[in-house]
Amino acid sequence: MEAFLNNDLESKYNTLIQVENSAGHKVTDAYRDVFGSAETLVVRSPGRVNIIGEHTDYNDGFVLPAAIDKAIYVAVGKRTDGRVHLFSADFNDSFEVALSDIQPTGNWATYVLGVARQLIDRGHSIEGFNLSLDGNVPIGAGLSSSAAVECATVFALNELFSLGIEKLEMVKIAQKAEQTFSGVMCGIMDMFASMFGKKGHVIKLDCRSLEYEFKPFKLEGFKIVLFNTNVKHALAESAYNNRRQQCEQGVAWIKEFHPQVNSLRDATIGMLDQHVAGKDEIVYRRCRYVVEEIQRVTTACDALEKGDIPALGIQMFATHEGLSKMYEVSCKELDYLVDAVKDNKNVLGARMMGGGFGGCTINLVKEEAIDELTAAIAEGYKDKMQLALTAHTAIIEDGTRLL
Ligand code: GLA
Repeated sequence: MEAFLNNDLESKYNTLIQVENSAGHKVTDAYRDVFGSAETLVVRSPGRVNIIGEHTDYNDGFVLPAAIDKAIYVAVGKRTDGRVHLFSADFNDSFEVALSDIQPTGNWATYVLGVARQLIDRGHSIEGFNLSLDGNVPIGAGLSSSAAVECATVFALNELFSLGIEKLEMVKIAQKAEQTFSGVMCGIMDMFASMFGKKGHVIKLDCRSLEYEFKPFKLEGFKIVLFNTNVKHALAESAYNNRRQQCEQGVAWIKEFHPQVNSLRDATIGMLDQHVAGKDEIVYRRCRYVVEEIQRVTTACDALEKGDIPALGIQMFATHEGLSKMYEVSCKELDYLVDAVKDNKNVLGARMMGGGFGGCTINLVKEEAIDELTAAIAEGYKDKMQLALTAHTAIIEDGTRLL
C-alpha cells in the first residue's frame, strides 16, 4: 500500500487483498510467458514484522515476529536438462545456470540459488527447474523480502521434488542460504516468521531452544503502521556482522570466568559490568543492549497477555532508544520518524525494525488517526530529510503455503 492511507480503511484493506491475489496470478502468467508451459505449483511466502526483540535472535534470545499480508510468490516446474532458469517479474530480468554451476550472483537470483545450493549440499536430489518470482514485499524496507524468497523457494522445491523436508529444517536451509549467498550472518527470526506465521498471532520464539508459542495479537482499535524511510545506508551488512562479532567477544570475556555462559542469553548485567566494561566500552554497550532487550521481550509479552498495549508500546520505545544509542544501528531518518511520534497520544509504541541503517519504523497507531498522522509525518519527513515517506499497514497473516 503505497503513499498515504485513505479515509476508507476497509476499502483500502480490500484493495490490498486484491493486490495480493494479483501478485499470485502475475507470477503464473509470467511463468507461462517466459517458460512456455504451465507451472506445476505456486507458493506464497510472506514478509514479516517484529514487534520487539531486535538483534536478539543470534544471541539465543527471544523475538516476537509475525508474518504479514505482503508476500513473495514463486511458480515452479521441472526441467529435464539439469539447468535452472529463473525470472523475476519485479526486475523484469532472467537468469540461467546449470545446477552444477550455482554460485552467488549478487542480485535477486542469489536468494533462490542459495537455497538450491543448500539442498544439493545436504544431499537432497533435485533436478533442473524453472522458477518465476513476484511479490509485493517492499524491497530494502526491513520486511525480510529475501527471507520470503528463500522460504518460498525451499517450500516450492520441497514440494516439486517430494523431498520430505520438515518446516523447521526448511527454515534452517533458508537461513543458511542467506548467510552463504548474501554474506549476512543473520539469525533465524525472519525465516521462522515467514514459514511459521499464523493469522492474527505473533510468535514468541525462543531462539535457543527454538520452542515457540503463538500469542493472539489484539490491538483493540490500534493498527500496525510501517513508515518506510526509503533509505538503506551502505555498509548495513558489514555493520550487522560486526555487531554479531562484538556480542561474541563479550561472551568470550565472560566465559573466562563463567564457563557455563554460551551466549548473551546466559549473561547478566552484573557479568557485563565485571568482565566486559573494563575491557571495551563499545562491546559493553552492545552487549548491555542485548541483555536488556531479551528482558524487554518478556516484559512486553506479559503486557500483551494482560491486554495492556500501552505497556507494550513503552517497551517498543525503549527498544528504539537502545538500538539507537547503545547498539548504534539506527540512522537519522529512523530516529526522526520515532521522535516525531513519541509524544503523540495516538501512537502507543514505535521503533526502528529489523537489522537497521534504514528500512521501516513499526508503529502502533489508533485506527482513526492513521491518515492524519501519516500525512503529518510525511510532510515533516520531506521537509527535514528531503525524502518521500512511504506508509504501509501490516495485517498479520499465515506463513508459507501452497496456493
Ligand atoms: C535482520 C536479520 C535477523 C535479525 C534482525 C535484527 O532482519 O535477518 O536475523 O537479526 O535483523 O533483529
